Formats: sequence, structure tokens, C-alpha cells
Amino acid sequence: MKSVGKPLVRIDGRAKVTGEARYSYEVQVPGAAYAVLVTSGVARGRLVEIDTSAAEREPGVLAIITPRNAIRLPGKLHGEPPDRVVQALQDDRILFSNQPVAVAVADTLERATHAALLVRVRAEAEPPSIRVQDALDRAFPHDIVAGGRKQEPDSAHGDAARGMREADARIEQAYEVPPETHSPMEPHATIALWNAPDRVTLYDSSQWVFAVRNKIANAFAIPKENVHVMTKFVGGAFGCKGSPWSHVIIAALAAKQVGRPVKLVLTRQQMFGMVGGRPQTVQAVALGAKKDGQLAALRHESTSATSRFDVFVEAAALQARHIYACPNIETKHRVVRLDIGTPTFMRAPGESSGSFALESAMDELAHALALDPLALRLKNYAEIDPSEGKPFSSKSLRQCYTEGARRFGWDKRPAKPRSQTREGLLLGMGMATASYPANFSPASAVARMLPDGSAQVESGTIDLGTGTYTVMAQVAADALGLPYEKVRFDLGDSEMPEAPISAGSMTAASVGSAVLLTCGALREKLVQLAVADPASPLHGARTEEVRVEEGRLAAQGRSDTYADVVRRAGEKPIEVRSKAAPGEERKKYTNLAFGAQFAEVLVDPDLGSVRVSRMVGVFAPGRVLNARTARSQLMGGMVWGIGMALLEHSVYDEKLGRIMSRDLADYHVPGNADVGVVEPYFIEEQDEHVNPAGVKGVGELGLCGAAAAIANAVFNATGRRIRTLPITPDKLL
Ligand code: MOS
Repeated sequence: MKSVGKPLVRIDGRAKVTGEARYSYEVQVPGAAYAVLVTSGVARGRLVEIDTSAAEREPGVLAIITPRNAIRLPGKLHGEPPDRVVQALQDDRILFSNQPVAVAVADTLERATHAALLVRVRAEAEPPSIRVQDALDRAFPHDIVAGGRKQEPDSAHGDAARGMREADARIEQAYEVPPETHSPMEPHATIALWNAPDRVTLYDSSQWVFAVRNKIANAFAIPKENVHVMTKFVGGAFGCKGSPWSHVIIAALAAKQVGRPVKLVLTRQQMFGMVGGRPQTVQAVALGAKKDGQLAALRHESTSATSRFDVFVEAAALQARHIYACPNIETKHRVVRLDIGTPTFMRAPGESSGSFALESAMDELAHALALDPLALRLKNYAEIDPSEGKPFSSKSLRQCYTEGARRFGWDKRPAKPRSQTREGLLLGMGMATASYPANFSPASAVARMLPDGSAQVESGTIDLGTGTYTVMAQVAADALGLPYEKVRFDLGDSEMPEAPISAGSMTAASVGSAVLLTCGALREKLVQLAVADPASPLHGARTEEVRVEEGRLAAQGRSDTYADVVRRAGEKPIEVRSKAAPGEERKKYTNLAFGAQFAEVLVDPDLGSVRVSRMVGVFAPGRVLNARTARSQLMGGMVWGIGMALLEHSVYDEKLGRIMSRDLADYHVPGNADVGVVEPYFIEEQDEHVNPAGVKGVGELGLCGAAAAIANAVFNATGRRIRTLPITPDKLL
């Protein structure tokens, strides 16, 4: 009767495919006006003049709000990281292209869109700096905030310089990942509705309702309790909706200014630059090894782009601290300031871009030593964390390698590049290691047993489309001893118990643990009520001997039901609130999820086009809560790897500082025709240390190592080592 692990379909699936699910912008708010942003075409400079007269004359226009007439926000526009500094029409500085400089508000979306087009903006432009390479001399170290923790930008274990000197083979190369832009199907959207001068409700497409609540409370200097934020459905986010950006404040500001609820949605073009993206990274990797492949030195230095006014660090070198057994490991993170919008977390921030560099370098080292790339990884298998000397909470990477190699047919890979063809195309095989932190942050939940014997469980977390509604009901059902159908899990409301950002692959781990502990406590409370109640058939039984199945409490051949316990206790729902948080125990371990990626590519020798014909990924993610949704997550990550390796690139005009590839025709993500066979598999782990739910998270792991496996396969197919993503045909010709 267990629910956890079963491949149940998403509970919200029907609502989504029938259109019954209301995404943030679709919430019906009577009397709502529509806001459309006007954004800067200049990347650096100052607003000189904004002529709003033509726009203001149009029918239905309620206001054209610019820095000239916008209400002054009494509070702060930014808080602690991962909160971002935003622009909310408060001054005339232009800090990046596509920065909001005005907002048109009208009674219909069409009228607001038209009015926004009539706003004339004149700006004084200065030449922008857009490329990391042009600013390397101004690079500086900065703390990293990853997975809810602060980490040092640099690490040194042993002496990497000496290790390099003593090595028999050395690889020293630079790798580059271009700026990339999240492209969820649902763009960012906010509805703001002031219920009183100091009381506001927002429907926002967000990964964290509490961050939106705090941001609005800070900006408008009102109590947090007066801000109510709801996010019931999200059409993809991948990190860009983790921090509330300018448009959220602007929607609330506009609603206040026009005295009506306001709906604001970004256009696809407006998503490029204004709401984060993966920053460009330039990474230097140095590997030194003995003849037998034993690593003697590993150095990984990453420099990534940030904005003029805020800092986001792409933590590309973090994994190098933990992934291979090596006595001498050095890592560094640097950032450079450019005239761009602040970058942010983008699926597997750090690990995906960093694994491209490190795992490409490992492939280069294997080739230099004439070793099999998988054998090289096994030779350097880390039994304990090489930097911190700690054991892993669990690690099944060896099984991932073995199982992946078997399923993929790794033994058929020719060591010599360019030695296999299929139907006139060059065929290549590559592999890479995947690793991603098993993050766990404090989370809370409430669970209620209702008089009908069904349970209602809530936590203010988010379902990004990943299956949170479903898996939390599964966890709750098992913890309570109820059938899955008897549990209703609800989320996405800032008035519910607090949950962490739905990012860093930590929702299942954190909220899952909170739900597990809270429902366990509710079960305990109900059992105690039963055994203490003279009217219960279980009266006098010991709580430890009571078993609960299908809502029936049984001991010594006697039984009671949840429904009867609640009814006898006065017909009111019986409620428990509790939380889960990392403790001291967890700190004794390095908590990582691992996997092995294998890719087969076909490269056209004349056209330079690459097709990923097959991918096999085997992942060890702790406990799998739902085999179907977890598999979907891993598959989505692997498919994203195809995009990262071959397609994704926010192309800047380097003179103007504008992103030129700012729609889905120019910014390419894999479509069905780009995707061959993608096969994710699990090695399930019992991990008692990582968190109460035993979950490591699957949202990002599938992308880690995927681009490197593809790039390594391209090398095997062609003999060409491409160190700058994406691997477009021009680079192979
Ligand atoms: Mo994810 S990039 O941590 O939302």
C-alpha cells in the first residue's frame, strides 16, 4: 500500500491539460488594468527625456509611469542574497539593455501594449562592456551563495603547483560557456491588488512566495503580514523566478498609482536580460596526472560575468573540490562587472557549466594518457571527500558508471577519434561524471486530520511543474498510514507554513522532510488520542504497538479509525505544525548526488552539424519519491544538456550591449526533432544522513555532465576538441 516510489501521474496533470489550472497571469481579478513595460535599448547611460504625451492621449490609458512621476518607494529595493538589486522607475540611470524605464497602464492589454509603443525615450548612451574577456583585469573574488549556504570563493588543498610539476601528463586549457537565458514556457507575470493603502495581494509566477512577500514589504515599508502572495502553478522557472525582479515591484507600484489591480506579464523579448540568465564563464582547468592516470593536481578557476550593481557568482569550480581523489586541489571563483542585467541561478548553476570544463579536461587527459575515459574516472574515484576529508552521506557513483557503461555499450567505443561512421556520418561516444549538491534547507508544514478520515497537508512551497503536489501527497500518505487518495496537499501561498526557495533541487528533500515529520507527528497525536480515550477500542493499548494502515489504527486485534478518533474529539480537524531542518549530524558528511552520463553523437563531416542520437544517464539520487516524476526531471535535465552543448547562446551585440537572440526563433532550445533517445535510470540509495526524507533531489542532476559527455562524444567522432559552447557547425568546419 506504500505510495512513495510509485510512478503515480501528476495530480495536477488533468487541470493543466484542460486549462483548468490558473497560472499567475490567468487569475481573474475584477477591475484589473493591464501594465506593459517599456525597456531601454541602451545598455549604459542616463535617461534624458521620456515623451509620454502621445501615449497618454490614447483611449483607455490610465497612466504612463516613468522615473519622473513614479511614486517614491519608501523602503529598500534589495535585501540579503539571493535577493537581487532591482530597478523600479526610481532614477534615471540605465544599467543594462532591456532595463524597464517606463510602464504603460491601460484598461486592456492591447491598449497598454499600443501605448507602450508610443512612449519616446531619449537616452545618453555610453559604450557598454559586454564580454568577460574584455574585463579580466578587473576580476575580483566574491563569496558564493549556493544551495542556501555561503561558501568561500577559493579553496586550496595540498599544493597544486607542485602536483603539476611532478605530473607525467598535463592538461591546461580554457573553456567557455556563453551567456544563456532561461526560456520557460510561462513568462514572468505578476498581478498586484491593493486591499488597503498598506495591504496588498500578489499572484506571481515565482519559485518562492516568501521572497516576493519580503521584497514587497521592504520596498513599500509595510509589515510582511500585510503582503499575501500566491503561486499555484508555474509553467517552468529553472532559477529565473527564484528572485523577485523589477517587474514585480513595478506591478505593485503601478497598482498603487492607478488605484486599480494591475496585471503585468513580460513579453518573450523582455525575458532576455531583465530576469537573470546564466552568466558567461571563462574557466581555466589544469590537470596533472601520473602515467597510470592517478591525479596529482587539479586546478579549476572560473571567472563569470555579473552586473554593475549586484553580484551573482556562477559557482563553476565548486564541484572540483569534491569529485575526484586528488592530493592537490585548488579552486578559484572570480567575477567581472559588465553592463548587463544581473545573472542568476540557471538550472544546475555552477555544476552544469563547471562540469563542461572539468569533464572535458578529464577527457583530454584520458586521451593524452591513452586511457579509457571511464577507467580514468574509476582510477580517481573518491571514497571520501578529497578536500574536506569527510565521508559522503552515501555515494553510488561506481554503480552508476558500471550500469551506465553496460546499458550504453561503452565497450564499443573506439579509443581512436574519427574511426566510426554510420550512414556517412561520423559516430562518437563520450561520457562524463555528474554531481550536484544534495541541498536541504529548513522547511515547515501543517497537517490536519479531518472528520471524514482524510488529511489536508500544506506548505508554502512551489510546484514548478516538477510534481510537488503529487510527491508530497505520497510522502504524507505513507507517513500517516493513509491511501494516497485520502490526502490533499496544497502549496503556493505565503500564509502557509514557510518553505525554502524551490530551487537548488531541494524541494523534495526539504519540504518532503517537513511533510514526513509533520505527518509523523500527526499520526502520533491521533494514536495517543485513541489509546487515551475510554471510548476507543484501543483504549489502554501502548502507542508503540499501534499500527496504522489505510486510516485504520490496530493493536492487539482491536481497531479504531482516524475518522472516529477525530469525531470523538469534537469533530474539529486535528492539526499539527512542525518543521525539518539540517542538524549537526549532516555536517559530518559531504552531501552530494552523483551520476554518470553517456552520449552518442552523429556528426555530418561536410556540414559540421551534430545530432545527439542517444543518451544514457544513470543517477544515484537517494530515495526516489515518484519514479515517473523523478525520471521526467532527469530526462528534462539531459535534454537541456543537448541545448547547452549545441544550441543555447544569448548572443549580444557587442557595440550596443543588446541581446540579439531574444526570442525562441533565435534563442534555440532543443525541440523534439533535436532529441534522440534519452534514457535516464536510477540507482536508488538508502541515505539516513542526508535528510529525514532520504532524498537528494533530481531537478538539476540530469544536466550535470551532460554537455561534457556530448562534447567528448564530438571529439571521439571528429578528433576536434571544442572548448567553447555551444558546438555549432562553424566550430567544426
Ligand atoms: Mo534552480 S537554477 O536552483 O531554480
